[in-house]
Amino acid sequence: MNDAKLNGILDKHQQDPAALLAILMDIQNEENYLPKDDLKKVAKLLDVPLSKIYTQATFFSAFSLEPRGKHICTVCMGTACHVRGAPKLVEKLERDFGIAPGETTKDMNLTLETVNCVGACALGPLVILDGEYHGNITSTKLDKVMKPLKKKQD
Ligand code: FES
Repeated sequence: MNDAKLNGILDKHQQDPAALLAILMDIQNEENYLPKDDLKKVAKLLDVPLSKIYTQATFFSAFSLEPRGKHICTVCMGTACHVRGAPKLVEKLERDFGIAPGETTKDMNLTLETVNCVGACALGPLVILDGEYHGNITSTKLDKVMKPLKKKQD
C-alpha cells in the first residue's frame, strides 16, 4: 500500500494505537491481506511493537498475512457440514481450481479456505463465496455458484 493510503487510514483513526485492530481491518479490506511492509510502517508510525501487531494479526482469523485472491471461497468443515459432504466439496474445488485450502490461484483470482462452523449448521453443507452464504450445497449447486470464477481459469 502506498504511504498516502496508509497515512489516510492512520489519520482516520487519529493515529491512535488503541485503534490498532480497526486499522488492521482497514488495511486488510484494502489489500485483502496484511502486507508485512505495511505492518512495519504501522508499528513505526504508532510506536507500537511489531510483535504486538503480529499477535493481533495472527489471533484473529479474519486477518491473513499471505496475499489472498480477489474472491474468497470458504467451505465450512464443522461437524454438521462435514457429515453432510463438505470434504467432497473441498476435493471438488481443489480439482476444479488446482488449489488446496489456504492457497490462491496463480492469477490471484480465488483463495480457497476452510472454517470450522460459522453457526449456520442447519444450512450445511455450507459454502461462503465473497461473504455470501450458499447452503445445502451439492456438487451441481457448487458448479453454479463457482461458474463465473471457473470461466476465468479456463
Ligand atoms: S458446521 Fe457448518 S455451519 Fe456449523
